[in-house]
Amino acid sequence: MPSKEKNDMKHVCITGSSSKLGTSIVDFFIKNMWSVTMHYHSSPKNLDIYLSNSNTRLICGDLRKHKDINILSELLYKSDINLLINNVSILYSAKGATENFEKKFTDVLNVNYISACAFTKAMYDRSISSGSIRELHVINILDSELHSTSDMLTEYYITKHALHHYTTEVALCFAPYVRVNGIAVGPTIRDERQSEEHFKEISIASPMECGSELKEVLEALNFLIGSKSITGEIIHLGGGRHISRYGK
Ligand SMILES: NC(=O)c1ccc[n+]([C@@H]2O[C@H](COP(=O)([O-])OP(=O)(O)OC[C@H]3O[C@@H](n4cnc5c(N)ncnc54)[C@H](OP(=O)(O)O)[C@@H]3O)[C@@H](O)[C@H]2O)c1
Repeated sequence: MPSKEKNDMKHVCITGSSSKLGTSIVDFFIKNMWSVTMHYHSSPKNLDIYLSNSNTRLICGDLRKHKDINILSELLYKSDINLLINNVSILYSAKGATENFEKKFTDVLNVNYISACAFTKAMYDRSISSGSIRELHVINILDSELHSTSDMLTEYYITKHALHHYTTEVALCFAPYVRVNGIAVGPTIRDERQSEEHFKEISIASPMECGSELKEVLEALNFLIGSKSITGEIIHLGGGRHISRYGK
């Protein structure tokens, strides 16, 4: 692939990119010659290979904290980042929690929802101040499970549903300055703490009896990036679980 001059390169920032889906998205953009800002929280040791890439930079932030949300918002406001991918999320279930419920719920709200709203607003503010329209783009990584009847991970789903609504609401609010879209994924990459059997079980619990493949997520990203008229759109990759109310 031909090399690009640095100032010809597009620049993407991906939150929560030190593991699984986030790291795969980083690799996709590096392969496609983008300059990449990787946000991570606590795992720099996995990121050594990215430190040696001159087109990649790492930024650390604990998005439970408003201070760190503000620092990254400021960076997005001042940077040349064209595309923001709000990928970060933490899983939390209050079921059985006896103490610190409020603190834990606030943490999951900050990481999964408030950070994405603040970062999207920073992109909008930059677009307004520079007077550019349709040049900046935000893609939110959502969960295709919209009607989970399970009481597991309730707080996780509440925050993901909130980001789902925010995506379509703010796309209208921030037009014509910033495009805002979403990709809602089903089970895609197994967590190492999860057994293969459990991952398979939840993957097939959809109308089409499948989850989503990483390749599909990357193709959806590519499609949204190249489709300059699309805003307020959410691509659901989860075997139809967004239209199912009963897990099938
Ligand atoms: N994996 C799937 O199959 C699947 C299914 C449905 C939806 N999704 C969605 O896809 C996205 C990525 O999922 P994933 O499973 O790849 O995520 P993941 O591996 O659980 O990664 C979460 C990321 O969040 C970061 N993080 C954790 N706590 C943080 C904090 N306090 N402040 C800032 N960052 C923090 C972690 O950073 P450190 O490692 O540096 O701490 C990590 O990079 C999420 O939005 C999720 O809802 C994924």
